[in-house]
Amino acid sequence: MKQHYKQLLTFTPKPFVKWAGGKRQLMPTLSKHMPKKFNSYFEPFLGGGAVMFHLIMKTPQLECFVSDLNSDLILSYVTIRDRVDELISALEFHSDKYFKNSKEYYYAIRESNPKTQIDKVSRLIFLNKTCFNGLYRVNSKGKFNVPLGKYTNPNIVNKDNLIAVSHVLQSKNISIKCQDFTKTLEAAQKNDFVYLDPPYQPVSQSSNFTSYTNDSFGYEDQERLFLEFQRLDSKGCYVMLSNSKSDEVLDLFENYSDKTIEISSNRFINSDSKKRTGHSELLIKNY
Ligand SMILES: C[S@@+](CC[C@H](N)C(=O)[O-])C[C@H]1O[C@@H](n2cnc3c(N)ncnc32)[C@H](O)[C@@H]1O
Repeated sequence: MKQHYKQLLTFTPKPFVKWAGGKRQLMPTLSKHMPKKFNSYFEPFLGGGAVMFHLIMKTPQLECFVSDLNSDLILSYVTIRDRVDELISALEFHSDKYFKNSKEYYYAIRESNPKTQIDKVSRLIFLNKTCFNGLYRVNSKGKFNVPLGKYTNPNIVNKDNLIAVSHVLQSKNISIKCQDFTKTLEAAQKNDFVYLDPPYQPVSQSSNFTSYTNDSFGYEDQERLFLEFQRLDSKGCYVMLSNSKSDEVLDLFENYSDKTIEISSNRFINSDSKKRTGHSELLIKNY
């Protein structure tokens, strides 16, 4: 790892994949609403990890318990942590091939079903950097089905960032797991900070985006999440939750309405750019 030190000093890690619901644009607002002091950090819907990276940069020794139910995503974090050099080589190989014949190569990789860890993860990152809108979406059989994006020069191998991410993830204070959110939250104690960023409750039928994994997150899951929120609240944790401004969420969290704020977001997920702007979402806290 020594040869990487110079880069580490100058590079701030950021999400290595573009993820639906990514929080980078909202970071300044979210940051203002975080507790000033807390013990450990819990984020059980990790996605691209924008919030975790932000907090680790502020407090490098922070103890973090992070997870997501998407096993390919978690395998990517683990691979970047443990085998970053091999991963970079595999991405460089994809990049060379892509720039020779993008369309043919993209669809060949999209149809492939790799078996090794490095091949699986380099495929996920490659597709994420080159697919339409950069979003991860699988169909009901768990197959990635997004068409080729219109990029002229996608940055398939962001080496500096992968090395910086690898370095921060090697901290013994970070636990990364693939599991349901309730399992991760079992360990949360008084004065810990929990940030919950679940797949959002759809506001209307057409905005229903719940295919991050092939099990979608339904209303019963939103209810389970509400019960977890209440449990953590009574334990003395600081809990902050993002969700859509939908009637279902407003009703479930009615008792926290005085600690609920509306924030405007620009989520970059609708493929029709005209529909991307100007909608608001909720930030619900217990403090
Ligand atoms: C809104 S995204 C999180 C976005 C993230 N905050 C970011 O900045 O990229 C929701 C995440 O929840 C995960 N997820 C879906 N169902 C889950 C469950 N039952 N338990 C844990 N994670 C789940 C999805 O795989 C997805 O990555």
